[in-house]
Amino acid sequence: METKIFKPNQINQAAAAIKAGELVAFPTETVYGLGADATNEAAVKQVYQAKGRPSDNPLIVHVTGVDQVRKYAQPLPAAAEKLIKAFWPGPLTLIFELQPGALSKSVTGGLTTAAFRNPDNQPTLDLIRESGVPLVGPSANTSGKPSPTLAEHVYHDLNGKIAGILDDGPTRVGVESTVLDMSTDVPTILRPGGVTEEQLEKVIGTVRSSHHHVGAGEVPKAPGMKYKHYAPNAQVYIVDHEEDWPAALAWAGQQDGQVGVMALAATIANDRLPANAEFFTLGADMQTASHQLFAGLRHFDLESPVKSILAQGFDDQGLGAAYMNRLNKSAGQTHFTNK
Ligand code: TXA
Ligand code: MG
Repeated sequence: METKIFKPNQINQAAAAIKAGELVAFPTETVYGLGADATNEAAVKQVYQAKGRPSDNPLIVHVTGVDQVRKYAQPLPAAAEKLIKAFWPGPLTLIFELQPGALSKSVTGGLTTAAFRNPDNQPTLDLIRESGVPLVGPSANTSGKPSPTLAEHVYHDLNGKIAGILDDGPTRVGVESTVLDMSTDVPTILRPGGVTEEQLEKVIGTVRSSHHHVGAGEVPKAPGMKYKHYAPNAQVYIVDHEEDWPAALAWAGQQDGQVGVMALAATIANDRLPANAEFFTLGADMQTASHQLFAGLRHFDLESPVKSILAQGFDDQGLGAAYMNRLNKSAGQTHFTNK
């Protein structure tokens, strides 16, 4: 199958493919998603196949607004209405109890709940509206690989396996949405993301966090959290503190072959990179670092293959929680200081 590239002025063609039960990747403000008609069981099953995704890992249902959620979910808690007013459209996914049988088992992974999200990207909102149905949308990468922040990343992973890609250029946030479980007494963050814990608490008061590393034998609430994720081919080492960089760069200089270095421009400016280091800048701050993280990991897979990558760590605060969650997974929790 030839994978077509649709431009934002070709929504009709992309929607026709969705209505025919085919898969079309779509842009969001976070990462690209792999779209299919959420009400078409056969289409949803193909999403798992194309990604190589385990079938017990449920999908996010992408909607144009809360009215579409009400068709499938139980009446929403008052706190959810507040969050929707404050953050939709935007990088916040909310989990609700479903009306019995409202969505197929392949969407929910057999749970009684489902995750809903109203993405902040106009071509994609047009695509959902034009398709007339909500779209499932896991990140449009091969399972286990870094999430795609460019249409080119999707093409690399899924060319020949999906009907099309709606190309709207680079995504804005770069890490996936915050997943918040609203089906528990105290709302619980299952995955940190583009909306921070602090932002949520300002609107609804205390939320709980259960996104910390899940050990062997523990059962995570978000099934997706148990899989190794975001892994490039190289081993990633997290450099946690500014003062670790001289030792880290000295170590890099002793390695055979090229070593990748991902850090803020200002972090590296005063240190001399060894001749065998390949620098990928994470820009100026936490915002640009989150935006560039997956692109950097893919850069060292595709354009500039290396065996090791040194990547800058940040405080686990605000957007840093989302960044560190993804970086820790890509590194398999390996830090430079204890490697
Ligand atoms: O930003 C995003 O959220 C992107 C864009 C494309 O919207 N999508 C995305 O989807 O990251 P995915 O499938 O890669 O991640 C969804 C996460 C998984 O960890 C999954 O296990 C969890 O949400 N999830 C989905 N439904 C759930 C449910 N009913 N209960 C608990 N966790 C759920
Ligand atoms: Mg994903």
